[in-house]
Amino acid sequence: VFASAEYIPPDAIFEVTKGFLADSDPRKVNVGAGTYRDENGKPWVLPSVRMAKEIVANCGHEYLPIAGLKTFRDKAAELVFHDTKAWSEGRVATCQSLSGTGALHLAGLALKKANPTLKTALITEPTWSNHDLLFSSLGFEVIKLPYYKTGAFDFPSYMAALRAAPSGSVIVLHSCAHNPTGCDPSKEQWKEIATVIAEKSMFPVFDSAYLGFNSGNVDEDAWAIRYFIEELKMEASVCLSFAKSMGLYGERIGLVTFSTGSQDTARVMNSILENVQRATVSTPPVYGAQIAGAVLNTPEIAKQWAQDLITMSSRVQSTRRKLYEELLRLGTPGDWSHIVKQSGMFGYTGISPAQIKELQLKYHIYMADTSRISIAGLNESNVEYFAQAMDHVVRT
Ligand code: LMR
Repeated sequence: VFASAEYIPPDAIFEVTKGFLADSDPRKVNVGAGTYRDENGKPWVLPSVRMAKEIVANCGHEYLPIAGLKTFRDKAAELVFHDTKAWSEGRVATCQSLSGTGALHLAGLALKKANPTLKTALITEPTWSNHDLLFSSLGFEVIKLPYYKTGAFDFPSYMAALRAAPSGSVIVLHSCAHNPTGCDPSKEQWKEIATVIAEKSMFPVFDSAYLGFNSGNVDEDAWAIRYFIEELKMEASVCLSFAKSMGLYGERIGLVTFSTGSQDTARVMNSILENVQRATVSTPPVYGAQIAGAVLNTPEIAKQWAQDLITMSSRVQSTRRKLYEELLRLGTPGDWSHIVKQSGMFGYTGISPAQIKELQLKYHIYMADTSRISIAGLNESNVEYFAQAMDHVVRT
C-alpha cells in the first residue's frame, strides 16, 4: 500500500514555530505565525474571554447539533450581516466550523456539492500559505492573481489577471488585513474589483480571519463584504475565524456563511452545509462555541470584547510605527515606509531568503520564508533588537 507514497515536507509556518521553541537563546524573537502576543511577548487571554469562561464553566460536554451552537451561529453571522437585507430577509445560511480553515473547507465542499460545474478557484499571489493547498485538495484548479509589487498592492496587474481569469470561478478575497502582505485595496479599488467579479459571474469567498482585529472595528473591517452583498446584491460566502479576534487559536472556532438570493436557497445551502459537515467532522467542538457565543450574546462581555479589539489592534499599529522609526533612526538602507502603510497582523519586509536565514542563525529571529513578519511578535523590549538585526543583515 505504501510503496509509492511520497514524503510531503512539513508546513513551513509551523516549522518556524517549532524552530523558535527549540531555540534556547534568551534573545530569540518569534515573528513567524500570526498569533497575538501582549507587550511582554506572552500569549494574551482576552479579558472578555476570561469573563465568558466563567459563564460557560459548567456547560458540559454533550454533542452540539451538526450545524453547531445556534446562539453562537446567529450572533456571529449578525456581526457581519446585521444591517443587510440578506440578514433581515433570512437569506443567510450558516454552519459552525473548525476556525477559518474549516470554514473555507466547508465552503469549498458545499460549493462543489451545490454546483459540480465549479472548477477554478482564484487566489492572490502571494497569499496565506494554506489557500492553494486547501482549494487544490478539494479538486479546484487554482489560479494565482498577482497582488503585490514593491511594498504595495499591485492593482493594475491584479485587475488585468482578474479580467483574463475564467468566468464563473470561485474567487478567494481577504476581507481585510491581507495575509501576508498587509496591503488591502482602497474602497475605490474594491468597487472596481467587485464590478469585474459581478460581470464575470464569479463567486466571492471572503476569508475573514481578521475582522475587528485589523482596525479595532468589525464594521469597518467588513466594509468590502457588505459592499458586495448589499450594494451589488451578490451572493457570497463569508468564512469567519475567532482565532485572532478572540485569541481562541486552539479552540478552532469559526463560522461558514452563504449569503444567498432567497430564503429557499439559504435553506438548501444550510442542508448542504450540514451534509458536508457530517461527512467531515460530524459535529463541531463545543467549548470554543460556548466561549465565543457567551462573548457575543452577553452585552457587558461584548462591550469588553470591543475594547479588547482596540487594545490588540492599537498595540500592533504602534509597534509597526516603532519599528519603522527605529529603522529610520538607524539609517537602514532602503525605503521602509511600507511597514507603516501596511495594516493588520503582518508586515511584508521584502528582505531576501539569505537575509532571513542570517536573521535566524545569527540573531535567533524566526520569520516566514516569504519575508513576512508578524508584528504582534514585537514589543517594547525586542523591537530595537529586531530593528538592529534587520539593519545588520540589510547592510551585509
Ligand atoms: C498565519 O498565517 O501565520 C496563521 O494564520 C497561522 C496559520 O494557520 O498559518
